[in-house]
Amino acid sequence: MENNNEKSDRTKWGCSSTFLLSMIGSAVGLGNIWRYPYILYSNGGGSFLFVYLIAILLVGIPFMLLEYGVGTKYKASFPKIMKTINPKFEVIGWLVPLMTFLILVYYVCVIGWDGIYFILSFFKGWGTNTDYFFSQTLLQSTDSISGLTYFILPILIAVFIIWFMVWFISHRNINNGIGKLNKVCIPLLFIIMAIIILYSLTLNGASYGLIKLFTPNWNAIWDPIIWIAAISQIYFSLSLGQAEIVTYASYLPENSKLTRNAIIITIANCGFELCVAIGIFSILGFMSTTTGIGINDLVTQGTGLAFIVFPEILNVMGSVAYILGPLFFLSIFFAGMTSTMSLLEPIVSGIEEKFNLTRKRIVTYLCIIGFTMTLIFTTGLGSHLLELADEFLVNVGIVVGAILGAIIFSWFIGVDELLDIINTNSRIKIGKWWGILMKYVLPIVLIYILFNGLIKLFSNVSYVQVVVDIALIIILITVPSILTLVSSKQS
Ligand code: ALA
Repeated sequence: MENNNEKSDRTKWGCSSTFLLSMIGSAVGLGNIWRYPYILYSNGGGSFLFVYLIAILLVGIPFMLLEYGVGTKYKASFPKIMKTINPKFEVIGWLVPLMTFLILVYYVCVIGWDGIYFILSFFKGWGTNTDYFFSQTLLQSTDSISGLTYFILPILIAVFIIWFMVWFISHRNINNGIGKLNKVCIPLLFIIMAIIILYSLTLNGASYGLIKLFTPNWNAIWDPIIWIAAISQIYFSLSLGQAEIVTYASYLPENSKLTRNAIIITIANCGFELCVAIGIFSILGFMSTTTGIGINDLVTQGTGLAFIVFPEILNVMGSVAYILGPLFFLSIFFAGMTSTMSLLEPIVSGIEEKFNLTRKRIVTYLCIIGFTMTLIFTTGLGSHLLELADEFLVNVGIVVGAILGAIIFSWFIGVDELLDIINTNSRIKIGKWWGILMKYVLPIVLIYILFNGLIKLFSNVSYVQVVVDIALIIILITVPSILTLVSSKQS
């Protein structure tokens, strides 16, 4: 017979700071460090901040409140909540946590790359040609199918270690595992980032980088693409539409102040990413002034910024790079690890509730399955596949999750009931406008974003991309169907 003693721990966070830090840990992740600075720069700089702020107020915080309200009302896993709303929705209840788990599968790989760079940063082990080192020496990257025939051993080892860490932390009850990790890592992450940013502001050329970053392009605010960029970033960064907030909120004690929490988490996350952008552009300004390379040629998103441009900058920095480099890669590591927990939790809690297995056993199975799936990203074709999977899951998967959430929660539970829950213990009261926003405006906006994402995805379609997308769609249809059809073993 399974031991379910931990079930009592599952229902509540030990204290509100554990919850807040865990929510901040979920939100602050790789997206804040490598996606945001590029998005801010390439979508109008200073004027994008205005768009971003409006989008946070009209979409980010209101949607977070919706997920809070649902988690607080049902105090159950995402699949169980969907099933309770309507048994036909159970399959959607599995679809969203599974999609979040698939994000975790490649997210772990990027943290593995970061772990390798953390070690290399102590002796600038990437050499002088950082681009060649990253794509050829380390990833041995190729676009050819033949890349699937070999594994990259250092990455495989790194990925194994990261999955082991995920297992080590997640298999404990939420307070001893996720809670403790976030209580240590989030304050450390903020301190390290503050050191990096303050130092970067003293660099020669920092002001040039910041002028480039913040120079507004007011014409850009009329472009729908800019609004889509802002809303997509907010969804990814605040972990919205991925069942994470509903799951974390389901562990909240009775009298939690939902509105206050949502505002604190949003300010922490968005303030953090803005500060990171300031730090990174100060450093890019330094690089541009020192080498004469234009900021436009330096700035890039994703892996390029963290693993090619940043090492290049460290190469021209002298001995301070031996401190700045390890701190930078350590901060990515902390940000990434704290997010992995929330990417895993929705599916863990769903299986825990439906199949009545111990948390330890579920997390062990899922980490083994996850590690096995991540193996494909440790092959020569891996980095290419990773980009394609990320594009599909972020541009389509998360938006679909958000649309389903907005429609099902606001139409089938009812906005008035959720509004009561949100306002009950909160001093800041939300008005009726919130219901109109959730029921009518947001689904339309999100459907528009989805169409845009699909057009973007299929505008440059390659053979490998079609295969990746079809594989993901098959997984996202079959696994939730099986999990729905298998009968539950609730005691
Ligand atoms: N919200 C997490 C991030 O920004 C997943 O990376």
